Amino acid sequence: MLPLREGGSLPGLVEADDLGTYVVKFRGAGQGRLALVAEVVVGELGRRLGLPVPDLVLVDVDPALAAAEPDEEVQDLLRASPGLNLGLDYLPGALGLERPDGVDPDLAARIVWFDSLVLNVDRSWRNPNLLRWHGDPWLIDHGAALYLHHDWPPREQAATRSLPGAADHVLLPVAGPLAAVQAELGPVVAADLVRDVVALVPDEWLEARADVASARSAYVDLLTDRAANPTPWLDPVEVARAARV
Ligand SMILES: Nc1ncnc2c1ncn2[C@@H]1O[C@H](COP(=O)(O)OP(=O)(O)OP(=O)(O)O)[C@@H](O)[C@H]1O
Ligand SMILES: [Mg+2]
Repeated sequence: MLPLREGGSLPGLVEADDLGTYVVKFRGAGQGRLALVAEVVVGELGRRLGLPVPDLVLVDVDPALAAAEPDEEVQDLLRASPGLNLGLDYLPGALGLERPDGVDPDLAARIVWFDSLVLNVDRSWRNPNLLRWHGDPWLIDHGAALYLHHDWPPREQAATRSLPGAADHVLLPVAGPLAAVQAELGPVVAADLVRDVVALVPDEWLEARADVASARSAYVDLLTDRAANPTPWLDPVEVARAARV
C-alpha cells in the first residue's frame, strides 16, 4: 500500500483483488467509522444526482497485510482496520483544483446546493477537496459532511441547519442561482432514493449506535426533510452567493 501523505486520515493507494486501484480510507483512522458513513451516503447520493464523484467500493482488509508494511504508522492503521473499509476509484494523474475559475456556473451551483444539503463543511477555498481530472472537476472527501450524526440534534433542528462557513465555499464566487437547482434536484432526493443509498452502508460501521435500523432512518429523515423544505438552510447560502457575484 502507498500512503497518500496529503490526506489527514492517511488514506492509501491499494490494488484490490478485482484488479482495480482504489484510494482506501480506513475505518481505524482517527476520524472514525462515521466519517466512512458520510463518505458513502454523501458520495453515492452525489453520484446518483449526476455529480462527478469517483465510484465507491467496499474493501475487505486483511490485517495480516500489516506484516508486509515498512511504515509503522501504516502497520498500526491496517491492524486497526479489519473488515470493511471504503475505497474510491483512483483517478490517476488528477491534480487538486485550487481555484474556481473556469468551473461551469451550473455545475458550481449544483455542488454548492449539494454541499449545503448534506452539510459538507469541507469544500472551502482553504481545503477545496476538488480534483481536476481530464479537464473536469471531481468531488472527493465527504467524511466531514453530515456532521450532525456525531450527536444528533432534534429532527427539526437538523432539518433547518444552514451550512456553516458557506461564505467560504470554494465555488460560491462562480456559482449560478441555487433556486433552479433546488427545483430540479430537491424532488429527486426522495425517501426511496435516500433509503437505497443509506442501505449501502455496512452494518458494522453503524454498530456503535444503539440500533442500526433507527440509525439508518435518521439519515433518511435528515436528507429528505431538508430536500423537501429548503428555505431555512438554502436561503442563507443564496444570500451569501448573491453577495459574492
Ligand atoms: N479518487 C482519488 N483519485 C486520486 N487522488 C485522490 C482520490 N481521492 C483522494 N485523492 C488524493 O488524496 C488526498 C487525500 O484525500 P482526502 O482529502 O479524501 O483524504 P483525507 O484524509 O480526508 O484528507 P484531509 O482530511 O487532509 O482533507 C487528496 O487531496 C488527493 O490528492
Ligand atoms: Mg481532503
